[in-house]
Amino acid sequence: MIAKETKEKIIETARIEEVVGDFVQLKKRGTSLIGLCPFHNEKTPSFNVSVTKGIFKCFGCGKGGDSLQFIMDHEKYSYPEALKYLAAKYHIEFEETEHSPEQLIADNNRESLYIISAWAGKFFQNSMWETEEGKNIGLSYFRERGFRDEIIKKFELGYSPDEWDALIKQATTESYKEEFILESGLAIRNDKAKLYDRFRGRVMFPIHNFTGRIIGFGGRTLKSDKNIPKYVNSPESDIYHKSNVLYGLFHAKKAIRDEDNCYLVEGYADVLSVHQAGVENVVASSGTSLTIEQIRLIGRFTKNVSILYDGDDAGIKASLRGLDMILEEGLNVKIVLFQDGQDPDSYVQRFGSAAFKTYIAENSQDFILFKTSILLKDAGNDPIKRAGVIREVVESIAKIPDNIKASVFARECSSLMQIEERVLISELNKMRLGKQKKASQSPAPQQFETPLYPDVLVEPYTDSDEWQEKEIVRLLLTYGHELVQWDGITDTYIAPYVIANLSDVTFEHQICLKIIEAYKTGLEKGHLPTEQDFIRSPDHEVAQMAISLVSSPYLLSENWYAKRKIFVRNEKENMRVTILGGIFHLKKRKVEHILRNIMDEIQNEPDHDNQSILMQRYMRVKEVEKGISTYLGSVILK
Ligand code: CTP
Ligand code: MN
Repeated sequence: MIAKETKEKIIETARIEEVVGDFVQLKKRGTSLIGLCPFHNEKTPSFNVSVTKGIFKCFGCGKGGDSLQFIMDHEKYSYPEALKYLAAKYHIEFEETEHSPEQLIADNNRESLYIISAWAGKFFQNSMWETEEGKNIGLSYFRERGFRDEIIKKFELGYSPDEWDALIKQATTESYKEEFILESGLAIRNDKAKLYDRFRGRVMFPIHNFTGRIIGFGGRTLKSDKNIPKYVNSPESDIYHKSNVLYGLFHAKKAIRDEDNCYLVEGYADVLSVHQAGVENVVASSGTSLTIEQIRLIGRFTKNVSILYDGDDAGIKASLRGLDMILEEGLNVKIVLFQDGQDPDSYVQRFGSAAFKTYIAENSQDFILFKTSILLKDAGNDPIKRAGVIREVVESIAKIPDNIKASVFARECSSLMQIEERVLISELNKMRLGKQKKASQSPAPQQFETPLYPDVLVEPYTDSDEWQEKEIVRLLLTYGHELVQWDGITDTYIAPYVIANLSDVTFEHQICLKIIEAYKTGLEKGHLPTEQDFIRSPDHEVAQMAISLVSSPYLLSENWYAKRKIFVRNEKENMRVTILGGIFHLKKRKVEHILRNIMDEIQNEPDHDNQSILMQRYMRVKEVEKGISTYLGSVILK
């Protein structure tokens, strides 16, 4: 259990721009911050962060919430996990009543996997630093490879004892459940149903997610026996998905953002050596070919990636095509090639940090130009092969979403290939047209060209009063605690005024109704509810609606106002008009409904007398409606 005060302290301390900023590059726009939504794929930013309200809202996919919600959605954390994350971020002491390991494990599956992985990380570290075997074999191996203690500790490297069940024994002694030892992949069950350690006699590289929790391990053998796999890795689990993990990202993310560049290497050793050399913006794809998720992960921190390659020509050629997907994500890709059997690790260990930095600076080439020159070299003078090269290069260029950038490449590549630029551009256009056709045949992912207020927020044609009801709730949330002089003399709060004036109105939208009721009860008790009360409401639906409403400047479309000649550039300018407008639009809508219902009744009423009674009622209500319209006209249009 987490103490209530701790929860409140965490929520109060967390700054939305900092919490979101760890995952999304935010830029200032007006009073809020905007960025590319991490919850759906988009090219134009529709993701808004309001520092003053402490919330985020995406106008593309609709997701919204406070810092806690962001972490829960983004990291797929449970509520307590997200609290813990924020507590750790803001160094807030986390008071949790003591749990036995069993209870902890029972908490929930994912959390249990995190716990056992963290425990195993400590176990491997302990085996390396505290046991003779560990010191003699594991630690001395790392030191011989040139890793200083400081980096060994920073990356929490360790050693797994060369026994069948060292880890299992210890874990069982400490009451960790077999279920989670197996599920985390730390142990394997043999055909005689007996468990044995997955990692034995290996140096251990814990793999962290980018919030710093251990989610898996890679273990390198120290034996030269060719029959033993060089690396043994944790299997996929509920917390470890290889395709969206980059080794070293947790330790690199700050530097990546600061440098606005990310170096991508192949192995654990490369990350460690390069990081140790003071180039901390380095991550590894860990042997597998790069996935789109990994690219997007990088894309959250920077748009610039430099890939440090140590392959031979054949290997490089094979991987070139895979790189086009980086272009598609709008990232700028550079290539740094290491030759003569060098890799980033061996280079920096041999020549030192300064030489390494110079090498990178002098040898980074743009990916497309690099690809062009490699393919050209391969094609030689064979005209058919050269034609193939043109096609491949154009294919890459066509993937660049930015037109200006693409045309710069077209120019440079045409001179490299010694063909006329216009030939290349016409190829490019053909390919783009083809791409568009394909895209329009299959349902394309939604694009939001007008990022801020797409159609979802615009008044649709509907028979319900939902929009008018929401508008009132929005006005209450946004301005309820502000003062207005209704009579030109005395200041009155907006919320009580609105609530009092709506006593005769029945809200149909269930969540609006809840909020209105909360205002009523609050006001009866002498308490004026605030926007924040609703944004942080434990009722998820209420919180979501509050967030949506306060994130949009007005619900009814500008068009709607324009038709009624209402000037809405700044609704705060004339608060009285804004509020009265909201109230009377809703009332008008309600009255129109009543009129329609009476009309229906009249039409279905066979009895003539009854019909005329209904008719009279209709006329009375119609008078009310006229009154409202006139009032609206005089108040609003003045
Ligand atoms: N890898 C793996 N399984 C293997 C071989 C490699 O998972 N059998 C992954 C590891 O993540 C490794 C990366 O591929 O870090 C690159 O492989 P390699 O260059 O062979 O490993 P290094 O980490 O560079 O190891 P070392 O320099 O110690 O040989
Ligand atoms: Mn290596």
